Amino acid sequence: MTSEDVREALGFIGGTGPLGRGLAARWARAGHRVHLGSRSLERAEDAVADVRDRIGAGTGEIHAATNEDAVAAAEIVVVAVPYEAQAEALPPLRDAIGSRVVVNVVNPMVFDDLGPRALPVAAGSAAEECQELLPEARVVSAFHDVSSRRLLRVDEPLVTHVLVCGDNDEAVHRVLHLAGRIDGMWGVRCGPLRNSAYVENLTPLLLAVNRRYGIQAGILIEGIDPDRDLLHPSP
Ligand SMILES: NC(=O)c1ccc[n+]([C@@H]2O[C@H](COP(=O)([O-])OP(=O)(O)OC[C@H]3O[C@@H](n4cnc5c(N)ncnc54)[C@H](OP(=O)(O)O)[C@@H]3O)[C@@H](O)[C@H]2O)c1
Repeated sequence: MTSEDVREALGFIGGTGPLGRGLAARWARAGHRVHLGSRSLERAEDAVADVRDRIGAGTGEIHAATNEDAVAAAEIVVVAVPYEAQAEALPPLRDAIGSRVVVNVVNPMVFDDLGPRALPVAAGSAAEECQELLPEARVVSAFHDVSSRRLLRVDEPLVTHVLVCGDNDEAVHRVLHLAGRIDGMWGVRCGPLRNSAYVENLTPLLLAVNRRYGIQAGILIEGIDPDRDLLHPSP
């Protein structure tokens, strides 16, 4: 078995939201063991029931957990809390997370009268703030540009690129493979973690377009040859 064949155990912090449930459903289907974390075990159980309804009771391995237990059981941690919760939610978990790969999907944004708007972040981006909060961890920014509504329609393939930024090559490589295990999704290397600011700031723009046209589009970068430039993990 090569490293590409490994299905790492995944632990979600804030996994009860639509994005957490959507990614969890897709990865459980792809053979990952998923631990859906919450501040409340009851909410995690409800979220797991929702995911099982979507993917079929006998499909995949998905467990309800507290955020602490989800981290403890995981090889890769996914931070899926709202931006304003990150600074409060992560420090108590810092020691448990240690040097694990951490996927940060957090978009710092609000909705006002004009629509979605990016929030300024002192650290540069939500992903860099996450790295500051978890100095030992190998933080990778990804999945900012993916619609939870589309992820949750589990029988529909997506056709989208996922913009992936990070400073640790091996961690980026693993997250590119995670993206590629979702049907119709490919991870694209987008440089160091600091580039996450551009990706995060793109999300309000994408949402404004999606609202205007009544769609849930993702991003496709023209000119990338999937056979040459993108990773193709084994199915
Ligand atoms: N929704 C999308 O389409 C989408 C797409 C790309 C990226 N994102 C990003 O992904 C993240 C999750 O999105 P979402 O829509 O799933 O978010 P959400 O539903 O607003 O929140 C996700 C979960 O975070 C937990 N949470 C909320 N406040 C918290 C706090 N103060 N401390 C600890 N945990 C807290 C809650 O879980 P418990 O109450 O169960 O603990 C909640 O269910 C966000 O940062 C968002 O910007 C979302």
